[in-house]
Amino acid sequence: MLLRELVLVNFRNYVRLALVPGDVVTVLRGDNGQGKSNVLEAVYFLATTRSPRAGSDRELLHWQARRDTIPFARLEARIARAELDLHVEIVIRADADAADAGGPTVPANGSVPASPPVTKKITVNGLPTRAVELVGQVNVVLFTPEDVALVAGPPAGRRRYLDITSSQVSGQYLRTLQRYNKVLAQRNHLLRHVRERRQPRDSLDFWNGELVQTGAVVVAHRLAMIAAVNRELGPLYRQLSGGQQTLEIVYQPTSYVPDRPVAADAACSALDPRSSEALAESYAARLGEMLGKEIEQGVSLFGPHRDDFSFLADGVDLNTYGSRGQQRLAVLALKLAEGQYMRTQTGERPILLLDDVLSELDPARRGFVLDQAGREGQTIITATDLDAFPASFLARAALFDVEGGTVTGAAPRPLRRVAE
Ligand SMILES: Nc1ncnc2c1ncn2[C@@H]1O[C@H](COP(=O)(O)OP(=O)(O)O)[C@@H](O)[C@H]1O
Ligand SMILES: [Mg+2]
Repeated sequence: MLLRELVLVNFRNYVRLALVPGDVVTVLRGDNGQGKSNVLEAVYFLATTRSPRAGSDRELLHWQARRDTIPFARLEARIARAELDLHVEIVIRADADAADAGGPTVPANGSVPASPPVTKKITVNGLPTRAVELVGQVNVVLFTPEDVALVAGPPAGRRRYLDITSSQVSGQYLRTLQRYNKVLAQRNHLLRHVRERRQPRDSLDFWNGELVQTGAVVVAHRLAMIAAVNRELGPLYRQLSGGQQTLEIVYQPTSYVPDRPVAADAACSALDPRSSEALAESYAARLGEMLGKEIEQGVSLFGPHRDDFSFLADGVDLNTYGSRGQQRLAVLALKLAEGQYMRTQTGERPILLLDDVLSELDPARRGFVLDQAGREGQTIITATDLDAFPASFLARAALFDVEGGTVTGAAPRPLRRVAE
């Protein structure tokens, strides 16, 4: 899969950008705060319709554009795929009309007005497209220094990671997950009503069934993904860490007891309907046992929305016992493994987006990462300077300078380095 061209209008600090990256590796070089990560964020957004870091899509609009009558940002990508070329466009609009129509008003204390809602309009090859239909058409893997939170941070980030990765390779996963989330909200609402005796207990029966059916499919997909990623992860981590340690990620379910045979079965063949049926059975049993507690608390306590996974290096949990360096390498290995996983699932290597990946690696590890990056498919990598790259790598790379929201094709290489 190849990003042929990226066009941005009013996105972050880009008033306008048209970028034609290299077919293999592209290096974006620039000082801090110039807009390197913003480019990767834009590509990621075009693939997933989500920002990896913005709290709200509003943040993505260029500050100056926010003063326009109808503030908008536009992102466009031309993608070459084996089967079909794609033109993806997303327009983000801060809709002034929506604000007038009974939207938020200026608070009485006269402080900053509350923001009007933001809308996203997606088109693929000129046709209006829903986010669920876009996700999966352009595959990306992003690595940023903040991703260390995947190991060191709270479970919500790990669940988001599972959801985004699985959604990129399976439309069924994304649709089922959305259904699960709707069912979950309904069921939570009902649990509170049952607690307050406004509804009979058996009014939950239907929702229990829906939760179990959709939840089991979500878990089965996650287990299949984790099993496949683990096959790549061990060797990648050994090479990255230069040691003998094995690394695996281990799913921690709340809807069944992990060491019952069902889990192992499911991991081997999770897309086999029998495994999701087996998962549904144990999930239903768990809900049956714990329903009293859920009613008491008025919230669904078991299921993929409460599940987690851990990183085990030789059986030791890196979340608790890993050094910062180990945690970073584990996440980097995971992202590289994810790239290989997506390639086997979709038949094409995803676009690899590596943000500032070299700064904390020693030369041997840099060499390994760059070798992976340049092996096949397309990689876009950001850096504050070029010293960390071997000359042989730079010779094959498309180089760009990023400065204050402008990207220019850089000179091939400084003379000093050519002479080396
Ligand atoms: N909505 C926005 N409008 C204009 N500029 C923005 C917006 N959001 C972030 N920026 C600017 O983008 C720059 C950060 O870009 P980033 O890509 O993270 O930099 P880096 O090159 O360090 O990766 C900062 O200068 C920030 O002020
Ligand atoms: Mg950055």
